Amino acid sequence: MKQSLTTKTAVVTGASSGIGAALARELARAGCNIVIFGRRKERLEALRKELEDTCGVRVLPFSVDIRNERKMASSIESAANTLGTIDLVFANAGFTIPGACEQLHPDDYRTIFDTNFCGMLNTLYPAFPHLKQSGGVLVIVGSILGEFGIMERSAYVATKFALRGFYESVRYELKEAGIRCLLAEPGFVRTELRYMDKKGNRLEALTDTAKKKTSHGIAVSPEAVAAAIVRAIPSRGYRKRIITGHATIFAFLNWLMPGPLSALVYAKREFFRRKVVK
Ligand SMILES: NC(=O)c1ccc[n+]([C@@H]2O[C@H](COP(=O)([O-])OP(=O)(O)OC[C@H]3O[C@@H](n4cnc5c(N)ncnc54)[C@H](OP(=O)(O)O)[C@@H]3O)[C@@H](O)[C@H]2O)c1
Repeated sequence: MKQSLTTKTAVVTGASSGIGAALARELARAGCNIVIFGRRKERLEALRKELEDTCGVRVLPFSVDIRNERKMASSIESAANTLGTIDLVFANAGFTIPGACEQLHPDDYRTIFDTNFCGMLNTLYPAFPHLKQSGGVLVIVGSILGEFGIMERSAYVATKFALRGFYESVRYELKEAGIRCLLAEPGFVRTELRYMDKKGNRLEALTDTAKKKTSHGIAVSPEAVAAAIVRAIPSRGYRKRIITGHATIFAFLNWLMPGPLSALVYAKREFFRRKVVK
């Protein structure tokens, strides 16, 4: 796929860190002009400079809260006017709210849906006519947690199931419109995903409890995930791709023997709960 990305224009949301920043680097190396979104202006500006200097591509940074539908629409329109087209859209921005359902409030669920699900819609809708015109690609970054749930992640898991539900339905319509679609479902990745409060505001550092609850043993690098996502872009139609070896094993277990996987998920949470209480 890399070869055919040269001179294409890609929109990447959540590009100020983690998988999004790695996607922007991967696409820029392949010759794409990139439109990068996130709230942290300094991070976007640093990435713009890095990619323009090292890859010689054009990079347009937009510091916009993805929940702001109007600003997302005007930014994407302005980017399309400047760069002439939009060929690829990576709907990647997201965050997580850990916590047991009983400890959360319905507003917490509304807040996370506003970013993780409606943020994808706020990106797709203004880009839709451009993708239709270019015969482009929509990539939705879901999660392996869109395949099965784990304890104390119901808010996050619900948004990732919603993204999968959206993909399962819209892929047929996108195919008819000449737009290719990829649902990428990564496993655990070493990023800043948990550096957020319940309102979706950035934290400078993880709390000690959050640090102890983080199991980074099997997590992979955002660079490896970004490369796998770009490789998985279908040459026609649509595709769902589970990314990382451990996520593939979990998905297989979930399909073959969901009972033992549930027992494993429960046992793991109990283990970490005891570690945090100590
Ligand atoms: N890390 C994992 O283990 C993992 C696994 C599977 C899937 N994923 C998915 O991968 C995607 C990227 O996450 P990541 O792991 O790379 O975490 P990350 O480093 O925290 O990146 C999240 C990105 O989303 C942006 N974002 C969050 N809320 C936003 C808002 N309201 N407005 C605009 N931008 C917003 C952040 O930018 P600002 O903070 O600058 O706004 C940041 O660039 C997410 O959809 C996540 O669910 C992650």
